[in-house]
Amino acid sequence: MEGNSKILIDTFGRAHDYLRISLTERCNLRCVYCMPEQGIELRESSAYMNKHELLSIANAFIDLGVKKIRLTGGEPLVRKDAAEIISELAKLPVELAISTNGILIDKFVDVFRKANIKSINISLDTLQKDKFNKIARRDDFDKVMSNIQLLLQDKIHLKLNAVLMKGENDSELIDFIEFTKDKNVHFRFIEFMPFDGNKWDWSKGVSLQDVLNKLDSVYGKRVIKLQDGKNDTAKSYAIEGYIGTFAIISSITNPFCDTCNRIRLTADGKIKNCLFSNDENDLLSAFRSGKDIVPLIMDSINKKKFKRAGMDSFEDISNPEINSNNRPMISIGG
Ligand code: 5AD
Ligand code: SF4
Repeated sequence: MEGNSKILIDTFGRAHDYLRISLTERCNLRCVYCMPEQGIELRESSAYMNKHELLSIANAFIDLGVKKIRLTGGEPLVRKDAAEIISELAKLPVELAISTNGILIDKFVDVFRKANIKSINISLDTLQKDKFNKIARRDDFDKVMSNIQLLLQDKIHLKLNAVLMKGENDSELIDFIEFTKDKNVHFRFIEFMPFDGNKWDWSKGVSLQDVLNKLDSVYGKRVIKLQDGKNDTAKSYAIEGYIGTFAIISSITNPFCDTCNRIRLTADGKIKNCLFSNDENDLLSAFRSGKDIVPLIMDSINKKKFKRAGMDSFEDISNPEINSNNRPMISIGG
């Protein structure tokens, strides 16, 4: 290894040391905000990175200064060799994290412990079983909740992600916050974002300001603003006396792009410099033909726009002609 002489700095001076790798486009849920109703067409397995390719490409990023890798999907744990990939990545000099829908966690806790994974993000859009079936279109609420309980008994720090949608789960906001009263969890409320096939319409969205107004009316002065980390995408809060905390991720009404340190690698081996960007460089094809992938990585970083792949204003991000030029979320990687 030549050390971290190169660092992935874009034209705005942002250093990119956080890589999100999607392990698969497959998922055992069908969440309405992520998966198009008709599903997505999966390609033959050779279209996706195999384990060795994934590890080699990950290594190239680590050589370029990446310090943290988060595994995403689809659902990363449905990939057959997920445990091997996690164990191999754990040997590299990088902090490892994972985002999952929680269904398979009980089968992976030992792998997580051995891999020294300290923080896990789980999607949890509702605390009601029947509503779970409606949002995730599968009957796995009990499994997810029992796996959350399992991790609560462990030392692994838990973040729970809820995409807030009007008329779906916005009425549960206070229930979510009450969930943090006696549990060491961090709930994150995410503004509904537009992706290909998810029938996005901001009238379904719940904004940062909506959440703050509700908090104020219910908790008043008991709402405590917490300090946010430099690259945090979220604004963090707690209720006085509660063990857990919560945060709001406002990608739509109040984006946090100025300190962005993230890049993405899709399951089919393309680098994406922004969640909202449709400009992808194909690292996997280059790797397979024996080419150096570093110039392609550098090129992607150099092309990174300042905000949301160039959608600077609320008007741009809410314009279907502009915001629908991307992949469905399921094939980007959450
Ligand atoms: N808007 C906001 N967040 C989304 N996610 C997926 N689709 C969307 C969307 N349209 C996030 C959720 C989910 C994770 C896998 O990706 O946090 O839990
Ligand atoms: Fe699967 Fe997560 Fe997408 Fe739901 S949001 S369909 S759990 S990848």
